[in-house]
Amino acid sequence: MTPQNDEADCIEAYRRTRAHTEWICSPLETDDYQLQSIVETSPPKWHIAHVSWFFETFLLAPFLPGYRPFHPRFAFLFNSYYETVGNMHPRAKRGLLSRPTVETVYDYRTHVDKHMLTLLSSLHDGNRDEVLFRLQLGLNHEQQHQELLWMDIKHNFSLNPLAPAYRTDLKVQAGAGRPARWLDYEEGIRQIGAAGEGFHFDNETPRHRVLLNAWRLADRLVTNSEYLGFMQDGGYDDPRLWLADGWHLIRQQNWRHPLYWSGSGSDWQEFTLGGMRSLDPQQPVCHLSCYEADAYARWAGKRLPTEAELECALAAQPLKGNFADSDRLQPAPATDEGQWYGDLWNWTSTPYGAYPGFKPLQGSMGEYNGKFMANQMVLKGGCCVTPAGHTRASYRNFYYPHDRWAFSGLRLADDA
Ligand SMILES: [Fe+2]
Repeated sequence: MTPQNDEADCIEAYRRTRAHTEWICSPLETDDYQLQSIVETSPPKWHIAHVSWFFETFLLAPFLPGYRPFHPRFAFLFNSYYETVGNMHPRAKRGLLSRPTVETVYDYRTHVDKHMLTLLSSLHDGNRDEVLFRLQLGLNHEQQHQELLWMDIKHNFSLNPLAPAYRTDLKVQAGAGRPARWLDYEEGIRQIGAAGEGFHFDNETPRHRVLLNAWRLADRLVTNSEYLGFMQDGGYDDPRLWLADGWHLIRQQNWRHPLYWSGSGSDWQEFTLGGMRSLDPQQPVCHLSCYEADAYARWAGKRLPTEAELECALAAQPLKGNFADSDRLQPAPATDEGQWYGDLWNWTSTPYGAYPGFKPLQGSMGEYNGKFMANQMVLKGGCCVTPAGHTRASYRNFYYPHDRWAFSGLRLADDA
């Protein structure tokens, strides 16, 4: 989302973003809204209520005079992690909330929408800048939950032996595949972090200098076929390839292949949002943990890129790719133009931490990003379920290194 200066633009952006969330949920049956397959995922019903709670808490309550919350206890149910706002229902028990019903949650959305449109129609000089900033934050927050909805629906459905398809009409793109090309980058002092006027999260700031040695990057993601080579070469059995935590994890969990794969030898299927499909050897390998990405890179005699290396490369590329609006909801084989944004979030070797001089947002919104700056890794680029226009070179996604329900993959890097 980009900043909106005109009230009519703001209202249109709000309507469009909210409607898109409901469109994502439209293929769901009522029963599907309740599922929480693992602690990391949330029921779709919780997501669509939580994003409404965000607008209610950070915009309607402080800025719309006389606003009355839809329900006095919904703040407890649908606060995610904002400790300074109040207590909250445990994350692991979101799937136990059979009430409010799906119908009531949609009524809650309607209530919030009605009052948000009143607020956006009555901006005045005293609150205008702050309301517009928080609106942009709320819309970008809802876009993040749109991506999470697809991630979580996929995981929820994957545990059903019937392997239900979320949609049967998704576009599928096959490709012939091609070798990766290597791009060379010169050493020097570079700048990373958000610059300019466009919306960005606090964790992308301040823009600052970094010293980089010369490096090389593959111009596309690693494919299923290449990853099968790693598996067939005993990659999951060779401790020399693994970080200690990763080796412990794959043995404890008996991981032998990426998440959502089933099969053996050279005959593999993959669960997708379009249901079970034969594995396309030319598609980028998807749903890897950082440990698996790192082990593959070591097996290939290369390494993962750092955040700064990848950000500098992304900044030089046009911001286009296979995002959610391609309506595939699955990564596609690389084209001749290279594969930079979209398809899959690229794991980096960089721990998610504060940039020099980082200052979180004021007040409770300062809990949005900064307090998660420990023990997670940065991912860059966006993916096939990221809303178009949501990501950028400086965007910092972050997950724990063992997480693999996100649409995550890898690109190889090397020293020049
Ligand atoms: Fe959230």
